Amino acid sequence: MRRPQERRHLITPRRLLALALALLGQNAANARIVESYPGEEIVAERIGDGIVQFHMNAEAKAARLPSLALVEAARYEGPMPEAFAVVPSFARDRAGRFVTSVTIEPGTSLYGTGQAGGELLRNGKVTEAWNTDAYGYGAKTKALYTSHPWVLAVRADGSAFGVLADTTYRVEIDLRSGITFRADGPAHPVIVIDGDGPRAVMESLGTLTGTIEMPPRWALGYHQCRYSYAPDDRVREVARGFRERAIPADVIWMDIDYMDGFRCFTFDAEGFPNPSALNAELDALGFSNVWMIDPGIKNEEGYFVHDQGDEINAWVQRPDGTPFTGDVWPGECVFPDFTRSDVREWWAGLYADFMANGIDGVWNDMNEPSVFNVESKTMPEDNHHGADIELGGPGPHARYHNVYGMLMVQASREGIMAANPDKRPFVLSRANYLGGHRYGATWTGDNTSNWAHVEMSIPMTLNLGLSGQPFVGPDLGGFIHDGTPEMYSRWFGFGSLLPFARGHTQKGNRDKEPWAYGPEIEATVRRALERRYRLMPLYYTLFEEAHRTGMPVARPVFFADPADARLRDVDNAFLLGDDLLIVADVSKRRGDAVVMPRGDWRGFDFPSFDGGRDSKDRDQARLFLRGGGIVPTGPVHQHFGDRPDQRDELTLLVALDSSGRAEGELYEDAGEGWGFREGDYLRTRYTAQRSGDVLRIDTETVGGVAPRSERTLSVRVLMEDGTELTGEGTDGRTIEIPLR
Ligand code: NOJ
Repeated sequence: MRRPQERRHLITPRRLLALALALLGQNAANARIVESYPGEEIVAERIGDGIVQFHMNAEAKAARLPSLALVEAARYEGPMPEAFAVVPSFARDRAGRFVTSVTIEPGTSLYGTGQAGGELLRNGKVTEAWNTDAYGYGAKTKALYTSHPWVLAVRADGSAFGVLADTTYRVEIDLRSGITFRADGPAHPVIVIDGDGPRAVMESLGTLTGTIEMPPRWALGYHQCRYSYAPDDRVREVARGFRERAIPADVIWMDIDYMDGFRCFTFDAEGFPNPSALNAELDALGFSNVWMIDPGIKNEEGYFVHDQGDEINAWVQRPDGTPFTGDVWPGECVFPDFTRSDVREWWAGLYADFMANGIDGVWNDMNEPSVFNVESKTMPEDNHHGADIELGGPGPHARYHNVYGMLMVQASREGIMAANPDKRPFVLSRANYLGGHRYGATWTGDNTSNWAHVEMSIPMTLNLGLSGQPFVGPDLGGFIHDGTPEMYSRWFGFGSLLPFARGHTQKGNRDKEPWAYGPEIEATVRRALERRYRLMPLYYTLFEEAHRTGMPVARPVFFADPADARLRDVDNAFLLGDDLLIVADVSKRRGDAVVMPRGDWRGFDFPSFDGGRDSKDRDQARLFLRGGGIVPTGPVHQHFGDRPDQRDELTLLVALDSSGRAEGELYEDAGEGWGFREGDYLRTRYTAQRSGDVLRIDTETVGGVAPRSERTLSVRVLMEDGTELTGEGTDGRTIEIPLR
C-alpha cells in the first residue's frame, strides 16, 4: 500500500516536453537517455513552505543516502500542493548517470551552480560539480574548487524557483536546454523551492542548507596575503607598511612557507622561530592573523601528526585497506579520512596547541583534495572512506570526494572553537560543498592577473552568493602572473567592496602590496579601502542578515527588480543589500555599459579624504543609493580595534523616494564573542519621512537589548537635484531637518 505522503502523477504534457528537451539537448553519445522512469511513480513530498522533495519512486526514496547539504534531514509536511508548478523528470543515460530534467519557460534566467567562471547568467552553460584544483582556470573550465549542485531560476515575471540535486556524487549541470543534472551514483532526491522571487528562494535555501555563523568583525576588513610572506620579519614589515601609510587593513596571512618542510601544525624553526611573539606583535599593530593548514600529511615516521594519525588508522584507504598516498607540497602524503567522526575529533584536537600560539584564523587549502602528478588532480575514485553511518556509511571516494573539503573545514572549525570557545572562528576553505558555508568562507581560487579575471570577479562572487555562500571574493590583483599596474588599481577600485576582500599573489610574482606600484595607485587603493571601512556598519548589518536569513551580502542587480529583463545579465555591478548599488568599469577599454534599475538611484561619494582628488579617480567604482533607502556608515578607521567602540560616530545616508520616505537598518554587537546570542546586540530601524518642509528621522529598536550609546547621529540626505542636506542629533531621539 502506498504511504500517505506519496502521490501519483500522470505524465503531464510538461513532463513529456521535459523529456523530449532532455533528449534533444544532449549531443554527447553517452548522455543519451536509455531508460526513463515513469512519472506516475514519482514520490513528491512537501518538506517546507513552497518546498517539495521528489524521489524517482518509492524504492529510490527508501534507498536514498543521507543529505550532506541539508542542515537537518528533510521532514515530511504534507503532499505536494496542487498548484506546484515545477516537477522534474528522471531517467538514466547511456553512461549510467542519473538524469534529472526540469523545463523552463521562455524568458527564464538561470543562476547559481556555485563556483563558475564566465558570466553571471548561466543559460547555455555546462559545468560540473566536482571539486578540482583548477590552477589557471578560465571562463569555460567545467569544474572548479567547490561544488554546488543547485540552480536558481528567475522567470520572466520575476517569480523564481530553485532546483537542488541532493547528491554528493559528481554532477554535470547542463543549462543548454532547461535544467539538467546528470549525476554519477545511485538515484538521488531532487528538491524544488518555488517562491515569489529570488529573495524568497534564497531564504528558503537558507532554511534548508543553513546560514553562515556570525563572523568576527575583523574578518570583514581588508586581508593582505601572498604566497608567502616569509620569514617572519617580512610579515612584520608588511604589517608596518600598512600602518605607516595609513592604508586600512585588518588581517595578514601566513601561507605554507611558515611550516617546517610543509608539515602541517609545525613552524619553521628558522623563518618562524616564535609564532606567538609574532602574533602578539601583529596584534599590537592592530592585525589579526590567519595561518594555513592543508589536508595532505607528510608520510614520515616520527612526525607527530603522521604518527598520531597512524595510531587510529586515520587515513583514506586504497580498496585493499592500505593507506592511499599521493604527492602534495611535502612530497608523499597520507590524507585524513574526514568522513569518520573519530578522525574529525582527532583533527580538531590538533588545533588546541596550534591556536595557543595566538592564532586568530585558519586557511584550509588544497582540500579538494588536490594531489600532484596525477591526471585526475585528486585521489582515485575507488579509494575507500570509512564514513560514519549518519553520513551514509563506508563508501568510495566517488561518493565523498565533493564533501571531503567541507568535512575538513567542519572539523577545523570545531577544533578552533574548542581551543578558543569565547571567540568566533574564522576559516577560509578552498574546497567546499553546498551547505558548507556553515563552516567557512571561500574565495575563487587561483585566478590569473588578466582582464578576463577582473571581469569574472563580480559574477563569480554573485553566483556563489546565490548558491548559499555569501562570504566570498577573488584574489584581488590576481594570483597567477604579475598583471599590470592599471589592472591592479581597477581591481581594487571595485573588488575591495566585495564581501571577502583579500589581496593575494603567487610565489615568484612581483610585490603586490597596495604601495608596490607607486604613489598614485597607492592613493587609489587607500581610497578604495577607506570606502570599505566607511561602509563597515553596512557590511556588518548585511553579514548579520546573511546569518539570520541566508540572503547574500552582494546581490545581482536584478534583485532590485526581478521582473526587469534588462537587469538579468549585468556583470559589472552588484548591490550591497537592497539599497547600495556599486557599478564598476571592469573591462580594459573602460566605458562598460551601465544598466541601472528603474527608479531613483542617487550617485554619491564620501567626502574627499585627500583634497578632493578622489572624485576624479576613475578607478573607483561608482556608488548609488536607492531612493527610499537608508545606509549606515561610519568614519574611516585603520582596523577593527582602531575604534573599539564601533557605536561612535554614525552617519546615515538617506535618499527619499517619491513619497518622501526612506528606511534602513543597522545591526551592531561586540564584533566578537557570543554575547549576541543572549541578546547583547542592537538592531535598529531608521525611518525618514518628509512632512511639509521638515524631514523627520525616527529610530526604532527592532531587536536586541544592548544599551544604545549617546552618540551623535549625523544624517546626509541626497536630494533629487544632486544637492545634499545634512543634519545632526543624538541617536535614539527623533531628528528634524529643515528641508529649506
Ligand atoms: C594554492 C592556493 O590556491 C593558493 O592561494 C596558495 O597560495 C597556494 N596553494 C600555496 O599554499
